[in-house]
Amino acid sequence: MLLNLTSHRATLCLVTILMWGTMVDCLIKAKLRTCGTTGFCYRNRAFADDITSLGTDAHSPYTIIQDSILFSEGNSHLHADIENTNNKILFTLDVTILQDNTARVQINEKTPLHQRYDDHARHTLDNPLRPVSPSQVQKGGEKTMIALDDTRALVIYSQPFKMEFLVDNVPVIIFNDRSFFNIEHLRTKANHKPKMIKEPSSPDVMQDTTKLESTMWAERFVNWTDPKPNGPESIALDISFPGFSHVYGIPSHASNLDLKETRGGPNAYLEPYRLFNRDAYMYDLDTPFPLYGSVPIMYAHRKDISVGVFWMNPSETWIDVTKTRSKDKKASSTSKTALHKMFGYGNDKMDDSTAVTGTQTHWFSESGVLDIFVFFGPTPKDIVRQYVSLTGAPMMPPLFSIGYHQCRYNYGDEEEILDIDNSFDKNEIPYDVIWLDVDYTDGYKYFTWNKTSFPDPLRLQKQLEDKGRKIVIIIDPHIKRSNAYRLYREAERADYFIKSPSGDDFVAVSWPGPSSWVDYTNPNAINWWARQFAFDSFTETSENVQLWNDMNEPSIFNGPETTMEKQMVHFGGWEHRDLHNLYGMLMHRATAKGIRERTAIPKRPFVLARSFYAGSQRYGPVWTGDNIADWGHLAASTPMILTNGISGIPFSGADITGFIHEPSMELFTRWYQIGIYQPFFRAHSRYDSEYREPYLVAEPFQTLTRAAIHRRYALLPYWYTLFYNAYRTGTPMMRPMFFEFPEEEPLFTEEDQFMVGDAILVKPITTEGAVSTNVYFPRNEIWYDVETYFCITTPGHTTVAAPLEKIPAYQRGGTIIPYRERPRRSANAMQLDPFTLVAALTTKYTNNTFSCVSLHEDPTGTDATDFAQSHQVLTIERIRILGLKTQPTHARLYAPDIRPYKDLPFDYDNINGVLSVGKPNVSVIDCRWSIVVV
Ligand code: NOJ
Repeated sequence: MLLNLTSHRATLCLVTILMWGTMVDCLIKAKLRTCGTTGFCYRNRAFADDITSLGTDAHSPYTIIQDSILFSEGNSHLHADIENTNNKILFTLDVTILQDNTARVQINEKTPLHQRYDDHARHTLDNPLRPVSPSQVQKGGEKTMIALDDTRALVIYSQPFKMEFLVDNVPVIIFNDRSFFNIEHLRTKANHKPKMIKEPSSPDVMQDTTKLESTMWAERFVNWTDPKPNGPESIALDISFPGFSHVYGIPSHASNLDLKETRGGPNAYLEPYRLFNRDAYMYDLDTPFPLYGSVPIMYAHRKDISVGVFWMNPSETWIDVTKTRSKDKKASSTSKTALHKMFGYGNDKMDDSTAVTGTQTHWFSESGVLDIFVFFGPTPKDIVRQYVSLTGAPMMPPLFSIGYHQCRYNYGDEEEILDIDNSFDKNEIPYDVIWLDVDYTDGYKYFTWNKTSFPDPLRLQKQLEDKGRKIVIIIDPHIKRSNAYRLYREAERADYFIKSPSGDDFVAVSWPGPSSWVDYTNPNAINWWARQFAFDSFTETSENVQLWNDMNEPSIFNGPETTMEKQMVHFGGWEHRDLHNLYGMLMHRATAKGIRERTAIPKRPFVLARSFYAGSQRYGPVWTGDNIADWGHLAASTPMILTNGISGIPFSGADITGFIHEPSMELFTRWYQIGIYQPFFRAHSRYDSEYREPYLVAEPFQTLTRAAIHRRYALLPYWYTLFYNAYRTGTPMMRPMFFEFPEEEPLFTEEDQFMVGDAILVKPITTEGAVSTNVYFPRNEIWYDVETYFCITTPGHTTVAAPLEKIPAYQRGGTIIPYRERPRRSANAMQLDPFTLVAALTTKYTNNTFSCVSLHEDPTGTDATDFAQSHQVLTIERIRILGLKTQPTHARLYAPDIRPYKDLPFDYDNINGVLSVGKPNVSVIDCRWSIVVV
């Protein structure tokens, strides 16, 4: 079978699917829709342009019906009706004030022709919402005010409808500021009155009315027709952030951390950012095109405050970003867009140095209801906490999964796996997990083993388990249509597949050839799927086996944009269109449930997924998909992972060394050196790549790569602590600089360096041949090179040496980092090893005393004491104190069983001021000790 697809760049791509069931070579670069070829996107941009063209006469047709405003539940909830004065259609507005400086705004059609999709919340939200009573409410004629407390309030204007969210009486977020709010009410074709947009007032903003109408009831794209049985049903709103120059979030895109403008402005994109999960094989860089996952959360940040919005809608969503600048302060964002249209979007030569005075965004989703959360911050860390307290805590991963993962598409058989496993040991390179891609199955039938290559899977698992290592296997959502396949028979009989509008199972092509897709919105299908992981069902698997869910966008080789046609039907009759971006997460959830429940005592599962949505953090890590082994993709991995992290998904990574093509040895080495500082650390490459396990590469690259991996392992105690903090607070392990230094303006656009926790600043090297690099060191801090302990006290940009053997990374003064420095074969093997603590001093240290405090909330509770009991042997074998200006005469240990004290051996390096205290051998469980340096 041969399919020809053209890419969006008009490159000819070839999808060659050779001999089903054996080797599959699929190079897909699917043609993508643009805003202009996506009906609801085109219509909403046109709607905005039409309003904009009216200039100061522009006003939103939506008004609140004054006497409909009703407060209830201790004033935490406001209900009102909104009318579209153009067509008299009514909508309901519900505003709820929630704890932790959060508000929810919901708008739905009051009497829709049929229910609009509003079943997203139960999949997305994880925790019960806790409404709180505002401190004051004021119902006026024109505006209604709700004060959350002394500083925060929201004001709802009636005519036209507009909402302002204020801090200290100044708006920080405004809904419908530019009058782009637009809900396409449900209608029948018969009662549809064409021409949503008024006749344009100027030819410059002329909209093609025929084009506006032509996609409302059916839409063609390449060879596909979307029949759109519900007609137009999009929802749109403009959200302004006055006074904010920077916005972040809305993964996933191969784009900047600091989001770019999309309708004019310096270096702007021509298209809105798009959220539409798809298989983005070999994706282009620096584009707003959609990738594998979607999280519709956005931060706006400035020196004194951060605020955020979460647009909870899982249908296809586009977001325009524009900015106002001081030069054109009077020209509002609205007139600016018109201006830019006149001269062509993105060709703007405006000087970026003009101060940005505000950021405006315009969001449009294809269907469903408007359901937005507003976060008042005030810091970026507050926002991520507010967000994960709704969508769920990032999962605390099992320890092995934060070590190094070795993957390849495909490792062929048991012998090869064991050979690789032994080679790692022989070459003294630690690793924790080896991965099996699709060919371990019997002909792409998931939950089966290819018995020729893997004659005794349990034997293999046992051998790995004996060394404390794990195996991860891939399971995709497409089920081969074959009556000889139990899974297919069961799902087919029980109606667990997604349907086509005719009521038959949806059938399309993926790895196994003709396949159907499990409908993870069906509660029975979820339970059935989860049960497949039970050891008596998926025989020949043990606890050693962990999971990888791929292709769950879902990826469909012969579908539009390599995914599912939107008219397909899910449980409850909902169209795929309504929940497309949720699908991947629902599979992830069902798999994690299965792995968790397969043991009598549920254990933390490890499940990697490619596609994700808001809430995916509850189930396991994600990765950035099929990247390319080039310097650009290496550099892009940093803003991509950072953006995932601030969007509630802290556990993510990129295929180390690049999935497609061959990396140079320099790139290979640099990639590992960055990978050790990224949360999910997995090497992966395509089936046709040269074998590139780290012990195979030549010197000096092998030695450097080994050293990098060892550094990751030494830092595992620090990583594990950071993962725990992410689980408790949502704060990502890998953080943008602005997250950690929210007041330091030069860092707001910084995406070429990042923080791991609050203690380590990392500067990735992403250019070929680099021997030095420029690092920005935040003010008021001392930074210590993590290898040499050389101390840097000059703030701002500094050039540092970065030859190939160097990974520029710096410990922040005032922090203590726990290491485990004994080289071992895996994370598991290190579990009871003693710690080395590296304490970096600030200039203001006092007391000269190093002491221990338990941070456990309930140190005398059973959990804490049981855990302490099992970890009695854990001790500290070394303490390094960085930045000690003078050589001490003694390092004295005080502890209850030592009288009066014990002098500890130490070394002092007077060049860098490093004191190394040896063998204190004090407990990390029993804190009744201190070391005094005199
Ligand atoms: C696509 C995934 O992105 C890639 O990582 C995997 O190796 C192939 N599918 C084969 O399963």
